[in-house]
Amino acid sequence: MSIFAGLTPMLPDPILGLTEEYNRDPRPGKVSLAAGVFVDETGITPVLDTVAEAEARILAAQTTKLYKPVAGDPAYLRPVRDLVFGAGNGTVAEGRVETLHTPGGTGALRVAADLVYRIRPGATVWLSTPTWPNHPQVFAAAGLQTASYPYLDASTATLDAVGMLAALRAAPAGDAVLLHACCHNPTGIDPTPELWRQIGDVIAERGLLPLVDFAYQGFGDGLEADAHGLLELIRPGSELLVASSFSKNFSLYDERVGALSLVAATREDAVTLLSHARVAVRANYSSPPAHGGEVVATILSDAGLRTRWIAEVTAMRQRISGNRQLFVDGLRDAGAPDFSRLFQQKGMFSLLGMSADQVRRLKEDHAVYVVGGGRVNVAGITQSNLEPACRAIAAVLAG
Ligand code: LMR
Repeated sequence: MSIFAGLTPMLPDPILGLTEEYNRDPRPGKVSLAAGVFVDETGITPVLDTVAEAEARILAAQTTKLYKPVAGDPAYLRPVRDLVFGAGNGTVAEGRVETLHTPGGTGALRVAADLVYRIRPGATVWLSTPTWPNHPQVFAAAGLQTASYPYLDASTATLDAVGMLAALRAAPAGDAVLLHACCHNPTGIDPTPELWRQIGDVIAERGLLPLVDFAYQGFGDGLEADAHGLLELIRPGSELLVASSFSKNFSLYDERVGALSLVAATREDAVTLLSHARVAVRANYSSPPAHGGEVVATILSDAGLRTRWIAEVTAMRQRISGNRQLFVDGLRDAGAPDFSRLFQQKGMFSLLGMSADQVRRLKEDHAVYVVGGGRVNVAGITQSNLEPACRAIAAVLAG
């Protein structure tokens, strides 16, 4: 008897699978605007100067490869917490926030999912429509149900605030709500400050647990400004989980470095919650990998490196926003419909609104790779791929 024979093959991942397909594609002039990775004007995803310098310091001083603590090293956790919540944050000062070092933002989401399952196995996790395609399977893998709340009004390409708030008002108390802190993936459309306040009110009234995915801190309006929405959710007695990724803002994609922050109503609850999170970590990957976390800790803890890193993040953000201008102009010059709405969007992504067939034709007929729905990684645009990408998109949209 074979155990494995007869298994139905799974489809490739809708984002990382596309990158693998793109890498195998032999066509010259192929263009990938699929996975959310930043490239410079030469098409390279660079190692940041501050990262290279931190790495040199770490290697020179390294004496051991001993395990990190299950929740991570305090030398990493303290500056990360300050980055996420702002130095001097009152809730942090009250001891209501505990942070764990996780392998990437996805690792943080998975620990959050395991934690929610330990505490409330019957909870449903509400996800925006649309959302990052990996969200549903991260929560399903932990045994949780997922459901959807309206987010994008496709007819106007704006946020359906009324539909979103109505769905959250109808969600059962104790359910979890996944919110994108900034640079919504895939739409690039974020709530206004006023809508964040209303979301915070509904969450508090309904007794929902916000799970905040904070993968793009610094890529929207700035490192501090991008925390505005999640800070709006923190009120006396509020509870939330925040998954941070440092793949993008430190350009540490392959080091898998991130953090999960637990905000509890009291110091005592935060400590208890952390004890559950530690068990979830130990049962999953045991303890976090060292290198990426040491790089982040070194940069954030050194005034000079930190200042230079903030400048590097600013430069990446400005380049992405310049790319939006190039892209909108390029689409117009190629004869595509007006996409000036992309100027209002934030972060790496914009959703052009394409059918599955249009996305397929873009790839098969033009060797231009975008994610389903027509999600374009604006941070992947360069002077050399701009024109072919815009020409192909205009041709596909024209039928
Ligand atoms: C993306 O959405 O492209 C990024 O978050 C990369 C990934 O892991 O999917």
